[in-house]
Amino acid sequence: MRTLIKNGRIVTAVDDYHADILIEDETITVIGQRLEMEADKIIDAKGKLVIPGGIDAHTHMDMPFGGTTSADDFRTGTLAAAHGGTTTIIDFAIQNKGQSIIGALDTWHEKAAGKTAIDYAFHMIVTDLPHERLKEVKRLIHDEGVTSFKMFMAYPGVLLVDDATIFRGMSFAGEEGGLICMHAENGVVINEIVQRALQEGRTAPKFHALTRPTKAEAEGVNRAIALAEMAETAVYIVHLSCYDALKKVKEARDEGIPAFAETCPQYLFLDYSYNAQEGSEGFEGAKYVMTPPLREKWNQDQLWTGIRMNDLQVISTDHCPFCFKEQKELGKNDFSKIPNGGPGVETRMSLIYNGGVAAGRISVNRFVEITSTAPAKIFGLFPRKGTIAVGSDADVVIFDPDKKMTISAKTHHMNVDYNCYEGMQVQGVPVTVLSRGKVVVENEKYVGKAGDGKFLKRSQIQLKHKEVAAVAH
Ligand code: URP
Ligand code: ZN
Ligand code: ZN
Repeated sequence: MRTLIKNGRIVTAVDDYHADILIEDETITVIGQRLEMEADKIIDAKGKLVIPGGIDAHTHMDMPFGGTTSADDFRTGTLAAAHGGTTTIIDFAIQNKGQSIIGALDTWHEKAAGKTAIDYAFHMIVTDLPHERLKEVKRLIHDEGVTSFKMFMAYPGVLLVDDATIFRGMSFAGEEGGLICMHAENGVVINEIVQRALQEGRTAPKFHALTRPTKAEAEGVNRAIALAEMAETAVYIVHLSCYDALKKVKEARDEGIPAFAETCPQYLFLDYSYNAQEGSEGFEGAKYVMTPPLREKWNQDQLWTGIRMNDLQVISTDHCPFCFKEQKELGKNDFSKIPNGGPGVETRMSLIYNGGVAAGRISVNRFVEITSTAPAKIFGLFPRKGTIAVGSDADVVIFDPDKKMTISAKTHHMNVDYNCYEGMQVQGVPVTVLSRGKVVVENEKYVGKAGDGKFLKRSQIQLKHKEVAAVAH
């Protein structure tokens, strides 16, 4: 199968030029001016950007959490991702306490196999890591293509691991070519504050945010970086939400420490006032209960500065949707029972283009870098993914930079009954999406099938230095 994309403006993390692209089967084979080869399919990309497919390095499909299960499975979630211009997700498998890590990986393979619209990989959430289990970590890194691991400083009694376990995991993973991704929040102190609030009868959704201070996140980030320094390895902070936490990453990076961090669209475009909404019988704010919580609005400008200065390298979604009806309602009388998380896998690329590029905050190259190239590099997928180059997988998005769209739960494809950005108009829409050379979205209509996506074994991670994706914008 030969596909020719003609007349487009190719944008990567570093390039910006007009050329045609020939795709043979799953791979980009020729890039050049006015290509006249024969092809089975010709796509006219005149007036459009031609960018590498988005990589969302943080999703939770079909995840048991908070007494329920996230509302998107690997079929609906990846179909929605494809509509939004994302062609790879890295989802989180979970090892329950006492469970074998290999067994946990098998479970997540079963959840995803044959269902996805786009390619996928796994991080492994480790909740239990005695010395005897380190060999399983080694096997994941060397044989299974799972080279990153998430550990939690939050959610005591469920996911939290102690500092000794974190240090052990960091040292071992670092030696073997793996990376620890840290949920950095002081969950033990937060738990104290939460219990105090509940005893005092403060049960509404907004108290989720009010009981998780920015200092608790900053302390977690600081500790995670210090532990990584002691373990002589890199660390990646997930879903960083606020300036207090960002300062800790910046301080470390200024000293040359290989600390990396992602933020998410919700921290760039939403704020605490959404939690404080009192519609739906005082419960509307539950739609925005996520962890870390939404912060005061002024943090947003600081996060954008972090993105511009490369103290934040990646924007992922932390897509973890729960329906407002029946799922969020589990916490109707107690905010601590509201399942934490929100939908976002479909809206990331348009939100960041609109709020970043169209708003003049970042360049179009930086847009590609933070949504695709940097996660590919950090997580061992580059150059197969994350760029438009000869030999790379033909994960290509034809993106209309002028087209406008209004975000709504009525039109989105995520399997959830609300959208955090309801009614927001954005400029920049993925029109046609190719996943490994196959058109899966054509003129905004899904034309693929479940099972088009493949599991990606990722390479070992090399982040001894801090310069990955270090491009000034
Ligand atoms: O609220 C969130 N973020 N839910 C997903 C779990 C996590 O900590 O990433
Ligand atoms: Zn987390
Ligand atoms: Zn998450």
